[in-house]
Amino acid sequence: LLSACALTGLAHAGAIDDAVKRGTLRVGMDPTYMPFEMTNKRGEIIGFEVDLLKAMAKSMGVKLELVSTSYDGIIPALLTDKFDMIGSGMTLTQERNLRINFSEPFIVVGQTLLIRKELQGKIKSYKDLNDAQYRITSKIGTTGEMVAKKLIAKAQYHGFENEQEAVMDVVNGKADAFIYDAPYNVVAVNKAGAGKLAFLEEPFTYEPLAFGLKKADYDSLNWINNYLRQAKEDGSYARIHAKWFKS
Ligand code: ARG
Repeated sequence: LLSACALTGLAHAGAIDDAVKRGTLRVGMDPTYMPFEMTNKRGEIIGFEVDLLKAMAKSMGVKLELVSTSYDGIIPALLTDKFDMIGSGMTLTQERNLRINFSEPFIVVGQTLLIRKELQGKIKSYKDLNDAQYRITSKIGTTGEMVAKKLIAKAQYHGFENEQEAVMDVVNGKADAFIYDAPYNVVAVNKAGAGKLAFLEEPFTYEPLAFGLKKADYDSLNWINNYLRQAKEDGSYARIHAKWFKS
């Protein structure tokens, strides 16, 4: 069966092309991930990735619409057209890459641990937590959860809907450690932690964060990857990065 596209020789040009026609780029994100996407006191979604997406939409000549989506449902939401792409601090994992396409990474992070202050000195790495007496928390559907279950499999694990609750479980002494992406923990240790948490800051996984698109949408990947290279080379990426990250 030949589609109209095949007959005219015009290929469907994908999510970015749809966004340009619509005049709005719709990005799915769970705005709980400091300092990439988070909600400020005025209820606005701000952050490093938000600024990157704003610059991207601007050079596309469209408005940016952020679609709040729970993290564990974000891939199904992309696949059912709730938005054009995922921009949610998503780690490019081989497992996820079987379901969706990923752009080139826009930053690389890794898992780190916030531990109960009393455990400082005793717990020197994730390996020391791999014991049934310890209770670990993270956010449901994230690589923090995947890594806890894989590398710290003997410990008890409890997943939370959002990062903040999972950190509070450790602050309140109910859990021993929160496992999560380094940039989040850098902010959280001072924000929630004050005196209650110790930070094991050396990342122990390799996690490229990238934008997620539907399978087969190579036209959108081409636009985004070329945009990212341009932003990295012309200094605009560095300016946005410097605004949200120290050093
Ligand atoms: N990088 C981690 C992952 O892909 C956590 C991302 C969480 N993102 C968010 N917007 N809450 O699982």
